[in-house]
Amino acid sequence: MSTDRTERLFEEGADRATYVQTMFSEISSRYDLMNRVMTVGQDQGWRRRAVRAVVRPGDTVVDAGTGTGDLALACIDAGAAQVIGLDFARPMLMRARTKALRGEALRGEFGLTGFALGDATHLPLPDASVDVWCSAFVVRNIPDLDAALREAARVLRPSGRLVFLEIPKMDAGPLRPFARIHFKQIVPRLGRLISGHRSAYAYLPVSVDHFLTPREFTARLRAAGFEVTQVRRLMFGTVAMHVAHKPEREQTEG
Ligand SMILES: C[S@@+](CC[C@H](N)C(=O)[O-])C[C@H]1O[C@@H](n2cnc3c(N)ncnc32)[C@H](O)[C@@H]1O
Repeated sequence: MSTDRTERLFEEGADRATYVQTMFSEISSRYDLMNRVMTVGQDQGWRRRAVRAVVRPGDTVVDAGTGTGDLALACIDAGAAQVIGLDFARPMLMRARTKALRGEALRGEFGLTGFALGDATHLPLPDASVDVWCSAFVVRNIPDLDAALREAARVLRPSGRLVFLEIPKMDAGPLRPFARIHFKQIVPRLGRLISGHRSAYAYLPVSVDHFLTPREFTARLRAAGFEVTQVRRLMFGTVAMHVAHKPEREQTEG
């Protein structure tokens, strides 16, 4: 897909969600390998760090856009009692299920994780039913971000915690030119080579350009009613971690 066609996915009325769903379904078999290569092996450490910031033993957690399940499994390792990994790309979920079964067989424990088809903008969960909502590298791909934030607020219990890992639009600074070379030149070539997919990793830098800076994302979370407690820039600012919580009581106007 040409850069122009990728750009058109961000125009009003374009069906970007279907493109995202199809694209992740097509690259599922190479997704984990590409993650390790693209982040020089750092990505699993970021997931563990994100999980440490919010998950406590006994928690019920939803991992929105769980993909191949790495964040969900890190939650289990951190002591969560139940983790629900949701994604709308079935082949990604199949990988997550296989990985979870392998891990559970090794630990001799079963039934802690559940992976199911679901859309982050319409979570198939009751109100106030989870302690933690988490996502890694997902929200940039959701056209209606506010709908996803509303759903997170709905399913979280009062004082429930959230963590987001995402590739933000980078603030101006000395490192921005290097990040642009990494995402615009290196990642699409590596992605094509490793995944065999022509457009998936060309979509990535375009989606980053259309996303928010860490500061803008913080403002968006506050506007959605969350209290943001931590913002961390990782790997020279190419990855951002936002930690937040739902207030104990609903904010009332006036
Ligand atoms: C870049 S992958 C991240 C996967 C995983 N969270 C990780 O840490 O590797 C993005 C995932 O989000 C899923 N996704 C994107 N939008 C979604 C939505 N609205 N509802 C559910 N899943 C979504 C995609 O299918 C894909 O599996």
